[in-house]
Amino acid sequence: MQKMMHLGSLSHGVGGHVAGWRMPGALSDKEKFAGIADAVMTAERGKFDFVFFADAVNTGADAAPTFVVRFEPLTLLGALSVVTDRIGLVATVSTTYSEPYNVARALASLDHLSEGRIGWNVVTGSSPDAAANFSRDKHPPHAERYAMADEYLAVVKGLWDSWEDDAVVADKATGMFIDPKKMHVLDHVGAYFQVKGPLNASRPPQGYPVIFQAGASDRGLELAGSTAEVVFASQSFVEDSVAFSSKLRDYAEKAGRARDAVKVMLGVSPIIGDTEEEAHDIVAQLGAMVDPVSSMRVLSDRLGADMTQYDLDGPVPELPPSTMMQGHARVLQSIAKRHNLTLRQLRDFAAVGAGHRVLVGTPTQVADDLEMWFRAGACDGFAIMAPYSPKPFETFVDKVVPILQERGLFRREYSGKTLRDHLGLARPAHPAALAVKL
Ligand SMILES: Cc1cc2nc3c(=O)[nH]c(=O)nc-3n(C[C@H](O)[C@H](O)[C@H](O)COP(=O)(O)O)c2cc1C
Repeated sequence: MQKMMHLGSLSHGVGGHVAGWRMPGALSDKEKFAGIADAVMTAERGKFDFVFFADAVNTGADAAPTFVVRFEPLTLLGALSVVTDRIGLVATVSTTYSEPYNVARALASLDHLSEGRIGWNVVTGSSPDAAANFSRDKHPPHAERYAMADEYLAVVKGLWDSWEDDAVVADKATGMFIDPKKMHVLDHVGAYFQVKGPLNASRPPQGYPVIFQAGASDRGLELAGSTAEVVFASQSFVEDSVAFSSKLRDYAEKAGRARDAVKVMLGVSPIIGDTEEEAHDIVAQLGAMVDPVSSMRVLSDRLGADMTQYDLDGPVPELPPSTMMQGHARVLQSIAKRHNLTLRQLRDFAAVGAGHRVLVGTPTQVADDLEMWFRAGACDGFAIMAPYSPKPFETFVDKVVPILQERGLFRREYSGKTLRDHLGLARPAHPAALAVKL
């Protein structure tokens, strides 16, 4: 049987293009549940593995409309869990600006509410501006953020294991509600966190909600290799992506895991027309509405430097390694170098896909491209970021997904109930069950 690709939707509520919200008929209210719920139901109709909501814990008036205001994502997942029943629901939570007990609890509750459909994108938080919102003088340096994330994840998993799977007995005859022998107190004392436990939530239906990550620095890949089950990446060239996936799998192997224990999903922003000409017209229409201030802010965040200080019509300057988002910075700089782009051209490119690969063409061309990347071993699937909502994503689901299904590259129906089922990931056993087996 041929391997199938995985598909996720990278949802920014109103779409990923900085000017998408200005298109005729496009949604412009990011805090209106009905519009987001409709897009998620479209993804479920398309049998997508999951929808994903990115997040940050800082903003400002110069932030792009796609990022300036948004729902707190875990709250949003709670609401979405009751209007959907098969699709996975994934959101970002930063390990630098939250407490592991609160996050373990919220994610466990969501996994129960959704009956096993939750994923957590673990990020260390890229913007230094977040520190001032959390009573901190400074944003911890890159290496320290990752050391915190390592410990944080171990604490959260330990809390999810507070109770064995069958700890809640609720025996009306004997009056025993919970079996105390099946409780495990974490008693964690580490460099960054002291957490006693147990958690006041029983073990999540999936054992652990699925762990996603998106860091692309060496330290980010090391963390992903040891703990992530899905890695989001932004890649613009097939050969770079093959090398990236192989490096990530080396890290997984080094951590004692199988090479295919981690799924690589690439961010792609498709702009689709019935003809190539129509697709290019949409790009031009979007381009004409771009606000240069917010698109420069997107580029500055992606490159990790204030780009307003450089000549717009000069070459993209060499920059020191980013301490914000090394992965995006590396990809954007390599695009600028390979295509000899000026800073203005790179800014306009980043406005379209916020650093993700932009794919312009007919449904067949888009499907051909995704198939080629998938068959080349560049990835296990794609995170689709529509430029605006709802039409372009509906076009992807109605016109590209059927081609992929016809070619045997994507499911026609869900075969399981949980996000782990969709992704083909095993449910982690409780450590006590493993100990019995040994
Ligand atoms: C598809 C995708 C989604 C991402 N979502 C988020 C997000 O929601 N929040 C965030 O802070 N960073 C997000 N990132 C950025 C990475 O997590 C970023 O690379 C990381 O914060 C910095 O780690 P690095 O220096 O190891 O690359 C995303 C990246 C990709 C490719």
